[in-house]
Amino acid sequence: MKVREAFCGDLIFDWSYQFLSPEALQEFAAKRLPQDFSARRSELLDGRYMNVTEEREVSHVLTRGRNSVLRDTGAANGGENSKFARIVRRLRSGQWLGATGKPITDVVNIGVGGSDLGPLMTSFALREFASDIRQHDLRTHFVSSMDGGQLYAVLPICDPETTLFIVASKSFGTSDTFANVDTVKCWVKECFAELSDDAVGNDWLTAWLEHHVIGVSANVEKMTNYGIPPAHQLVFEESVGGRFSLWSSIGLAIATTCGTRVFQRLLAGAAEMDEHFATAPLSENIPMLMALIGVYNREERGINNIAILPYDGRFRHLPSYLQQLDMESNGKQYTATGAALSAPTGPIVWGGFGPNGQHAFFQHLHQGYDAFTADFVCVLHRAAPQFSESVAAALNEQQKLSVANCLAHRRLMAFGKESETPTEHYPGGHPTSLFALKELTPESFGAIIAAYEHKVFTQGLIWGLNSFDQPGVEQGKKVAIDTLARIEGKSEQSFDASTDAIIRMI
Ligand code: F6P
Repeated sequence: MKVREAFCGDLIFDWSYQFLSPEALQEFAAKRLPQDFSARRSELLDGRYMNVTEEREVSHVLTRGRNSVLRDTGAANGGENSKFARIVRRLRSGQWLGATGKPITDVVNIGVGGSDLGPLMTSFALREFASDIRQHDLRTHFVSSMDGGQLYAVLPICDPETTLFIVASKSFGTSDTFANVDTVKCWVKECFAELSDDAVGNDWLTAWLEHHVIGVSANVEKMTNYGIPPAHQLVFEESVGGRFSLWSSIGLAIATTCGTRVFQRLLAGAAEMDEHFATAPLSENIPMLMALIGVYNREERGINNIAILPYDGRFRHLPSYLQQLDMESNGKQYTATGAALSAPTGPIVWGGFGPNGQHAFFQHLHQGYDAFTADFVCVLHRAAPQFSESVAAALNEQQKLSVANCLAHRRLMAFGKESETPTEHYPGGHPTSLFALKELTPESFGAIIAAYEHKVFTQGLIWGLNSFDQPGVEQGKKVAIDTLARIEGKSEQSFDASTDAIIRMI
């Protein structure tokens, strides 16, 4: 077996455990890559690729470059003075004061889907790289679920006078997000109502909106109608898809957590992957290899799912992030022009933190019935400057342990272990890829996420899909509105025996 690898910066993509040779891959590419692939790729990288059903271009790649939120088109100094950067600096330096004059200590990002998963994943992964000195502690929290589940944990540890809320919503209309905001407003009102008029004046809502809320959206009108002062509105283009938006102002919570320097490095890493995608030949082009291998496993090996198995805890949120990126993009049975399809397209994406998965679902992966493919992610070295030498050395041993387990389970899934005894037989034969990072940096993190974006784009092209709309999310929202109306007694609509019975129990 020959090693099959491709490189971009510190990123190593190893596809040695995929069951197709470089020659077979070239043949498959000749068969499956659309004739106009290069032209489409250039359109995407120039921000000109058309999202035909929503009649707008796709420009998330430009948010890493000429449309960067850090680029202050006025000033020549590379963004230090951009609105985004100014807001981040005021928050991280303790200069942003709440309505009662106290510095903000907690930032709560309220958003869902693309307005949550990217900022949450990236803040969690890169928070240790925060370089610019912070004058005071600033904690970041993420609230997304419509049941208010995270508010039970976040509100008790926050103080309305020192908490700022980022209302992150491209449409500025998602019910999950505003259900959470409405509950927060109740919490704030109770507190501010206790305070003297001197503190917040006689209009708590205006005081709150003017000092404790930043709106991030593509819909300026809705932010303004909601009462968010223009100075606290961060806007991004409609042509930036929600699930592709972490690089835009939707990434504000990443910058408040890690600083603008780290955010800049994240964008630089993604831009390096954009350049790699544009120029590397197929055999060395990571996103194209990921895409074609994925389509090959789907169509030629009939594998309908891919497990994302990170072996470094900082990638803990990667599986859920990729679920939206891939499944909301290519989970479709109709072409970009709306023609029905009856062929396999986007796979089921699932996964979890690898080392813990070993003690949970790996039994099934090693000896279960179902075929699967997997992407492993491991980081070979991790510095621990915040600890003493001996603790850092012990942590380094743990990193080696994790890498060893990653490589071991990957091998066993590929090659198995023969035995007459069924309980000791490991069938193997599961094709997997490995992302190995020498060290995790904001750049290598940006690059790996951008690689998955370009994989999804390339697979969408191969299957003739529009990877940039998501019509299938709408009907469920409509049925939920009708169901809620019935639950609240605002309608007599009957659904079915089971639903009606449950509603009667509420
Ligand atoms: O319902 C799906 C979806 O529209 C996703 O595409 C999007 O990321 C999420 O909801 C949140 O949307 P918004 O940012 O407009 O609140």
